[in-house]
Amino acid sequence: MTSSRKMKRIHMATNRRRFIAGIGAAVGAAVSVPTGGVAGAVSGRPFKVCVFSDLHFDDFWTNSDDTSFLDGIMARAEREKCDMMIQLGDFMHGVEKPRQRMFIERYNASRIPAYHVLGNHDQDQCNEEATLEAYHMRGTGYYSFDRGGFRFVVADANYFCLEPGKFVHYGKGGYARIRDRHSYSVPPEQLEWLRSVIVGSPHPCVVMAHESFERANYLPVRNASEVRRIFAEANAKKPGTVRLVMNGHNHNDNLRILDGIPYWDVNSANYQWFGKRHDKYPAEYVKRHPGSVHTLGWTRPLSGVLSLWPDGRVRIEGVEADWLFGVTAKDAGFPVCDGDGRETHPKILSADFRLFTSL
Ligand SMILES: [Fe+2]
Repeated sequence: MTSSRKMKRIHMATNRRRFIAGIGAAVGAAVSVPTGGVAGAVSGRPFKVCVFSDLHFDDFWTNSDDTSFLDGIMARAEREKCDMMIQLGDFMHGVEKPRQRMFIERYNASRIPAYHVLGNHDQDQCNEEATLEAYHMRGTGYYSFDRGGFRFVVADANYFCLEPGKFVHYGKGGYARIRDRHSYSVPPEQLEWLRSVIVGSPHPCVVMAHESFERANYLPVRNASEVRRIFAEANAKKPGTVRLVMNGHNHNDNLRILDGIPYWDVNSANYQWFGKRHDKYPAEYVKRHPGSVHTLGWTRPLSGVLSLWPDGRVRIEGVEADWLFGVTAKDAGFPVCDGDGRETHPKILSADFRLFTSL
């Protein structure tokens, strides 16, 4: 698609929504553009967040048995002068082994404030309470905080819904025992809490969870429509309250505007997992990383630098890696796209846009 056609398509979309003030550059994986484009008036320095997801620190997975990928992301956050970092879940699989504690501490002790979102795997080898404590979450996996003129809202959808109205949080062993293991849900009390911190918020909100509130097919939050209703209520009351929603979990890369809200599906920092095996990696590597026969890795860590301006401008600066050992999904005989048609590739998109104007 040519850039003028891209722009035309975006402007047609904006006309349908009277509260959308304008977009200075196209967005999304399908219509991604290089960063640095003009996106309307810039009001001062943006608030900058280094975002990454799904590191899966554990010796089972490919190239995640050392700290080099985390170190690379943290070095980028320093270089880019980020105001904070946030990992979107599946940081690791347990928190009690000494080297797991060392890994968490490496992140938590950073000079740049470091925040956590709880993923479905973060309490695989321990109970939920141990992970909450290690991640400095106070008793629940959901919380919010105000920084740099924005409200950051962290949701936790890592609950099994065993029967209507009965929710159980993911915890040691539970993931494997429960047949319907991907029944990610936000329980009623957390929905109420989300409403209380988002609707009427004095600051624009960036909402995040490990699992997606916008996907239709591939491992979405089951009751995501109830969460989106809260976003709609907030934006009806004050346009632009929900400025951006982001998630990890699917290890794919996408940006989508749904009901006037941008949803950023953040790729894994280091790999994609597949249910089937492949035999494309060197035997010596597989010997050291047995789980790698089910994965395809990236050669360097992926992260995004999110810049937020008070006037509504949002910029994402992504990064591109290569496939580990040059083996692509196609080479390995794996599906190129996931259940929502999103392509697996070793990159995080870049975009620069403004959907809302804050005056
Ligand atoms: Fe996950």
